[in-house]
Amino acid sequence: MVYLTRPLPEGAVEALAPHCEIAMYPLDEPVPPDVLRAALADSEGLYCLLTDRIDAALLEAAPRLRVISQMAVGYDNIDVAACTARGIPVGNTPGVLTETTADLTFALMLATARRVVEAAEAVHSGQWRSWRPTWLIGADVWGATLGIVGMGRIGAAVARRAAGFGMRILYHNRSQTAEAAALGAEWVPLDELLAQSDFVSLHCPLTAETTGLVDEAFLRGMKRSAIFINTARGPMVDEAALYRALSEGWIHAAGLDVTAVEPIPMDSPLLTLPNCLILPHVGSATVATRRKMALMAADNLLAGLAGKRLPNCVNPEVYG
Ligand code: DGY
Repeated sequence: MVYLTRPLPEGAVEALAPHCEIAMYPLDEPVPPDVLRAALADSEGLYCLLTDRIDAALLEAAPRLRVISQMAVGYDNIDVAACTARGIPVGNTPGVLTETTADLTFALMLATARRVVEAAEAVHSGQWRSWRPTWLIGADVWGATLGIVGMGRIGAAVARRAAGFGMRILYHNRSQTAEAAALGAEWVPLDELLAQSDFVSLHCPLTAETTGLVDEAFLRGMKRSAIFINTARGPMVDEAALYRALSEGWIHAAGLDVTAVEPIPMDSPLLTLPNCLILPHVGSATVATRRKMALMAADNLLAGLAGKRLPNCVNPEVYG
């Protein structure tokens, strides 16, 4: 039996059904941990989401589990080392959501710089009285300097878009990449990137090293006119420091698709700020991309059940 922790985009269940017995949590909300634990007592495969915590204790309760397939590229919710120790391959969905997430990154850059949400709200609340020379004026995106922190697949896709906007592109990454060089992006130390960029966009994976990366020193290192964008993972940001940065004017604005706790608690001070635009983790949310992710995760699951190497495996060391 395989356990699916959520109803999935069309096509995924249909792809799995001929090959295995399926049990699925029926609601479009995170499966309660005790329900997941009980379901895994008898499951050979797990199809999960980034909202599910897969840790060593859960694996202890899953003696028959042979494969875990996550419908996401990120897998910081999974204790991969514990999976590897048990010989369980873990699959993810890299590549298919790259361009879609880069589009949303640009949507946040444009929306924060050009005050799109504020402008639309002004229309709805009857404030549009005439064309006014100084009303709702924002900052240009074209021609500005973009600092990309983390030049992986999504960072590079954002850089490609930035090149089309005539932006100067700086990046900081462990290594310099040929793709970045081909786009005219310049590797710089992080402090230099922060000091020079009009937009700073985060594209690193969440790891022990990147947790809390965006702290007071990071934000104070940015220009007062700069905009911070995060479509990666929320825990990389110290939200108390971000609140101070936005409310005390250390930086101009922020556009977030992810927050430290998701959903963001309704009493989060960030929700009180007009210069902080927050979306509900929708970076990959297009019909086509979510379908590709769902099918890719189904392929990983079926390969694991068949005892084959997962097409996209985050812990290939399980194969010795
Ligand atoms: C991922 O896949 O990791 C994104 O955050 C959700 O699409």
